[in-house]
Amino acid sequence: MHQPDSSVTTHKPLIDWVGSITKLCRPEQVVWCDGSDEEWHRLCAELVESGTFQKLNPEKRPDSYLAWSDPKDVARVEDRTFICSRRQDDAGVSNNWEDPRAMRERMQQLFDGCMQGRTLYVIPFCMGPLGSDLSMIGVEISDSPYVAVNMKIMTRMGQAVLDHLGSDGDFIPCVHSVGAPLAPGKDDVAWPCNEEKYIVHYPEDREIWSFGSGYGGNALLGKKCLALRIASVVARDEGWLAEHMLISGVQAPSGEKRYVAGAFPSACGKTNFAMLIPPETYREKGWKVTTVGDDIAWLRPGKTGKLHAINPEAGYFGVAPGTSYESNPNAMASLERNTIFTNVALTADGDVWWEGMTEEAPKGIKDWKGQPWTPDCDSPAAHPNSRFTAPAAQCPAIDPEWENPEGVPIDAIIFGGRRATTMPLVFQAFNWVHGVFIGANMGSETTAAAEGAVGKIRHDPFAMRPFCGYNMGDYFRHWLEMRKEIRELPRIFHVNWFRKGPDGSFLWPGFQENMRVLEWIFDRVRGRARGHEAQLGWQPHYDEINFEGLDFSQDQFDELMQVSPEEFRQELLSEADFYLELYDHLPKELIFQRELLAGRV
Ligand code: GTP
Ligand code: SPV
Ligand code: MN
Repeated sequence: MHQPDSSVTTHKPLIDWVGSITKLCRPEQVVWCDGSDEEWHRLCAELVESGTFQKLNPEKRPDSYLAWSDPKDVARVEDRTFICSRRQDDAGVSNNWEDPRAMRERMQQLFDGCMQGRTLYVIPFCMGPLGSDLSMIGVEISDSPYVAVNMKIMTRMGQAVLDHLGSDGDFIPCVHSVGAPLAPGKDDVAWPCNEEKYIVHYPEDREIWSFGSGYGGNALLGKKCLALRIASVVARDEGWLAEHMLISGVQAPSGEKRYVAGAFPSACGKTNFAMLIPPETYREKGWKVTTVGDDIAWLRPGKTGKLHAINPEAGYFGVAPGTSYESNPNAMASLERNTIFTNVALTADGDVWWEGMTEEAPKGIKDWKGQPWTPDCDSPAAHPNSRFTAPAAQCPAIDPEWENPEGVPIDAIIFGGRRATTMPLVFQAFNWVHGVFIGANMGSETTAAAEGAVGKIRHDPFAMRPFCGYNMGDYFRHWLEMRKEIRELPRIFHVNWFRKGPDGSFLWPGFQENMRVLEWIFDRVRGRARGHEAQLGWQPHYDEINFEGLDFSQDQFDELMQVSPEEFRQELLSEADFYLELYDHLPKELIFQRELLAGRV
């Protein structure tokens, strides 16, 4: 069995654990990843060799690669994701649960010999800046070199992490296999995976086991599994918050700067909002928006008395379709080089393309299944959940404080969903408890980020429904409790960029125009902006939003801001089911808030 050199690690429990997993999975060889650029290039070359990767045209897209997955492995599998706490009640109704002892037995069977003929990669990674008290170390064992090269971009990965771990540091063990053993002499496929998938978390043991998928959050275990599901449990125990949130900085012409965090469900605009470039009229005056993170925030009460946020990630695993130099120039600049693309289309000149990247599709492209594609094909060229993996540091708007080990102070938390009806453009919570109520009642149309039907409204509290590692009712209570720990509470807002008119088109132009809402939020936080007390919270009047340079009438605004009693009756009715499901864990405060809202609308 492969033993690491003492210059690699002297961490006995780590070495023993890798030894025991190796014994179980029986790979052909074991490789400890050092995280070097040289290693990344070598593994990418091997992935080209094995057919998983195609190297993109170096003149168009230097050091970048394209992978096409198995068509049955394209998104997170929520119905195969399990929270195996000892008591089912601790997982709650929003999670799948299985008894941990039974699940461990099942895992032993599945992982027995599952890496035959493959290489086992030991991938040490750090979520958060290396050396920060706020960071957490994990070690992922995986038989997927695709995972290894993605983890190099998405996390601080390699030898430096082992050095930090020393001989007795804490780490979260993460075991991953694509579940496709290779019998001797048998040819591999470009995207090995298994029909049977399991994404398993043991919250008490802080351990993760993932089987059968090589895609995104199913396989890059530092992301949703560690930084959200396991971290949310740690955060509950230690008095902080692990959230599905973007983090960005807003700087006014005066130089005053504030940070905001935003929770929108998967594929509902976090990356776009985190990288927002203000409209020209704003830029001329000197407004600036900077990016700290686009998907996950860890928030703790900090020295300033405010909540401080770090982005535990080091890269973006962003939705490709809809991303263009028009909609998100910063994202486009971030993925100009050193980027891995998954399930986008390939152009004739060896570059990538997806729906919405340019108005017209280039000629002679191949779709994400490798088939010739033209605009009159029935299916899209890029899979709706196709993604890019790009280093965060390549974002032109990256915030100078993005790796500050103490995080950045947060002044506003913004909740938002994808709602064609009911929800107005923006409102502000009356106070923290009301804000928690708003987060708890978030709803959104489902998207291609998860397997299953797309476009159905579901409750997605705090955009955390698929990512909360414990009982959702207890999570609400934890949020309520946090107000006692934070001296200067962030203000809480709700936005909806996705309201539609009777003809089905968006009522709000969105994207960079969201700056106008952000300015109102910025001014509310500073106690400057006006607003009036309305049914849902504090709301702006038409003349309290800056529409300079945008043709947007009072009538359009009124339609966008309208609160319909009939729609809210429906809203409250659908919430009732949810409240019943959570009954014995639901904080009373939220029931009172619901009564108050019913009274107001
Ligand atoms: P995850 O990475 O899945 O957690 O999602 P995300 O929230 O980062 O999603 P992202 O920002 O990549 O959103 C992707 C989708 O939202 C694309 O289809 C965009 O076109 C759309 N989108 C983003 N911002 C806006 C907006 O302001 N208005 C409208 N109408 N669509 C938007
Ligand atoms: C999401 O679905 O919210 C994502 C993508 O950010 S994945 O990492 O695949 O979960
Ligand atoms: Mn996400």
